[in-house]
Amino acid sequence: MLQIPLRKLDRLTPEPTELDRYEVASRDEIRALQRERLAWTLHHAYDNVPHYRAKFDAAGVRPDSFNDLPDLAKFPFTIKADLRDNYPFGMFAVPETDIARIHASSGTTGKPTVVGYTKRDIDTWSDVVARSIRAAGGRPGMKVHIAYGYGLFTGGLGAHYGAERLGCTVIPISGGMTERQVQLINDFKPEIIMVTPSYMLAILDEFRKQGLDPRKSSLRIGIFGAEPWTNAMREEIEEAFDLHAVDIYGLSEVMGPGVANECVETKDGLHIWEDHFYPEVINPVTGEVLPDGEKGELVFTSLTKEAMPVIRYRTRDLTRLLPGTARSMRRMEKVTGRSDDMMIVRGVNVFPTQIEEKLLTIPALSVHYQIILTREGRMDEMEIQVEARPEANDSIVRKDDARRLEQIIKDTIGITAKVRVLDPGAIERSVGKAKRIIDRRPKA
Ligand code: DLL
Repeated sequence: MLQIPLRKLDRLTPEPTELDRYEVASRDEIRALQRERLAWTLHHAYDNVPHYRAKFDAAGVRPDSFNDLPDLAKFPFTIKADLRDNYPFGMFAVPETDIARIHASSGTTGKPTVVGYTKRDIDTWSDVVARSIRAAGGRPGMKVHIAYGYGLFTGGLGAHYGAERLGCTVIPISGGMTERQVQLINDFKPEIIMVTPSYMLAILDEFRKQGLDPRKSSLRIGIFGAEPWTNAMREEIEEAFDLHAVDIYGLSEVMGPGVANECVETKDGLHIWEDHFYPEVINPVTGEVLPDGEKGELVFTSLTKEAMPVIRYRTRDLTRLLPGTARSMRRMEKVTGRSDDMMIVRGVNVFPTQIEEKLLTIPALSVHYQIILTREGRMDEMEIQVEARPEANDSIVRKDDARRLEQIIKDTIGITAKVRVLDPGAIERSVGKAKRIIDRRPKA
């Protein structure tokens, strides 16, 4: 078990008086607020976005059909394609002159997905990110090294405004130039780093390359998100840097980073900031709403967004809703993967995070891995390429470990995968989100 020195736990848990009202409100108060805000959002979307008006009309629902939270299930879902079809500004509910900022996600095919914010939306976003950083243990006066990409991606600027709102000193380094990242961490001595977990591993490599002990760095808190990562990866990073690693979740269509965040005192899943985002979990096949505790696809309705309200947006992220612990707002379990990342190998569904969890049980294997999918005849083949740790780079051990991992995967996940252990550094490092799957199967 990880032993964190006491000095690093000092004052990371906020006093109740430091929290926002709805972080400690009763469930009844939260539900009452959500009812009121949902009613507003449904009217706002219907009255101002032709797309929603047409969709509601076609489904035979009106904003007035909503009286209580379960009524939301009567309303149609929104999917990414709806945003693309209304490219670029068709989903906006306010005049273009009221849009203070635009972000976009590149998307792998065709047009990007465009999102817009009013000045008040940017304010709300800053508030929820400030709250997220505080939940992670951040306090005014701390320095925050932001290595999420700045630009159309919501990560950099979203984190930036939140850190400023909390009263932190912001170091807006963005992603890339890893050598300089390490130099500035050493020189500026930030307490907090915000970055994708996979890029944090590249920063770790660079620390070691420069002969520096990462455990001696000034970093006490890492706020990692934008991609799935496991609790095994958490332990790996916490141990390497001697810091607290906390999960941040969000997506541009709903806002950006800061839709949900883990609390450092519990690290038991991410509290959804339910005063601004209403979550549902649905059966991804039937669309039926599932009770809390059951796993399915996460769906969000915005509660306060002006520029681009979203109604029942299907995230494709798989998780379950859990009751509040450190805060009254409900938690979502760490996202294990997106339905898009689900690989079906000879009929068995498998996510990269399941592989990540297994490979980290073998001490000589590192967290740098990729999954290559190919097809031989009609059979899908999976090869897992994983780097050996530098200190355990022995060819006999490597072979043994490869066989061991194959066996563990067969016994626990139920698939046959070929494992290849590569030299340290052989797998390309990501600057932002890691690419875990390389699909070389012929397109159908
Ligand atoms: O990734 C926003 C963000 C930036 C979140 C920085 C956290 C930190 P998009 O580029 O629109 O926005 O991608 C959203 O990324 O639907 C998830 O599939 C995935 N994702 C985001 N955070 C997490 C997380 C940003 N903590 C998509 N765990 C989402 C797992 C995550 N997946």
